[in-house]
Amino acid sequence: MRGPPGVSAKQTPELKSVAHRTTRRLGKERMDFRIRPRGGVPLAKVPLLAVATVLIAGCTPGPQDALAPAGPVGVMESNLYNLIFWIAVVVFVVVEGLLVYAVIRYRRRPNDGIPAQVHGNTTLEITWTIIPVLILIAIAVPTLTTIASAAGTTSSNGSVNVKVVGHQWWWEFDYPDLGVVTADELHIPVGTRVNLTVESADVIHSFWVPKLGGKIQAIPNRVNTMWFQADQPGEYYGQCYQLCGTSHANMRFRVFAQSKADFDKWVADQKAVPATPTDAQAQKGAQVFATGPCVGCHTIAGTKAQAKIGPDLTHFGGRTTIAGAMMENTPENLAKWLKDPPSIKPGSLMPNYHLSDDQVNALVAYLESLK
Ligand code: CUA
Repeated sequence: MRGPPGVSAKQTPELKSVAHRTTRRLGKERMDFRIRPRGGVPLAKVPLLAVATVLIAGCTPGPQDALAPAGPVGVMESNLYNLIFWIAVVVFVVVEGLLVYAVIRYRRRPNDGIPAQVHGNTTLEITWTIIPVLILIAIAVPTLTTIASAAGTTSSNGSVNVKVVGHQWWWEFDYPDLGVVTADELHIPVGTRVNLTVESADVIHSFWVPKLGGKIQAIPNRVNTMWFQADQPGEYYGQCYQLCGTSHANMRFRVFAQSKADFDKWVADQKAVPATPTDAQAQKGAQVFATGPCVGCHTIAGTKAQAKIGPDLTHFGGRTTIAGAMMENTPENLAKWLKDPPSIKPGSLMPNYHLSDDQVNALVAYLESLK
């Protein structure tokens, strides 16, 4: 920086003395920094520990690890991520490297005068415009082709079509060609393309099964499409990924990838009307269901309950989870849920109906019998 007119750029004795004192003080602080806090880790090792923590955490892929994909769409998206990640690493290292080099190489030294005043450099400016353009092209081309390849269609041969509808706070899965409607647990045949149309019944949600593919937004009055395929049988975790209200974090789901035979059997079971309960307690539950508030929101095939506000409960007893895959489907958890849904899932649209213990136990017996 240019000094006031008439003042020499050379350091006066006072300035030299201030600089000396400052250096000494900084040196002392550097010493202090190395001192080990009582009972703790040396401060200098904190960044090392932070890096180690991240590395160790990355060693055990979780059930929702998008970087351990389990199908072609997941692989495609993970490859795109890795490409952009490594481009970003190179950019970071080069830019920060140049910065550190400039800071050290051109740092102020004692007896330095005013440095050469440079204004503009056409070659440099053209270079640092062209390089980012090339980087953006290298990112844009694979990104656009991946987006196009991951977008679903509903007309491919041999594929399974599913209409996914996001609700606050659960997922509806409708297989229009198979006549099956279920909630929170999506069954798919392994090694088969699954075309998904994704919609919302209320607010914006986002459908994501990290290991298989996505995410894609579920938007009211709009149909988005995507597809995925599971290469191995198994259970894959899904999650709403768009803040959609109080229980956004409780809007989970599972994908069960099954052999073709198991999937066909599941479809046949889903299409069958559940047997009328024979157990006395379950019969009582059926009556509570039919005469209480339940019929106002839910469907159970073969009964008068045909409402579409809450999840279809036709084969409720055959599901492994309840309440937006928040809890395992056990009689104890279901009783807790029926007692006071909003205490389990804050904001739940199913209110507390203040059912008696008898009513709850009867409903549990009935719903769990619906296989
Ligand atoms: Cu639905 Cu977040």
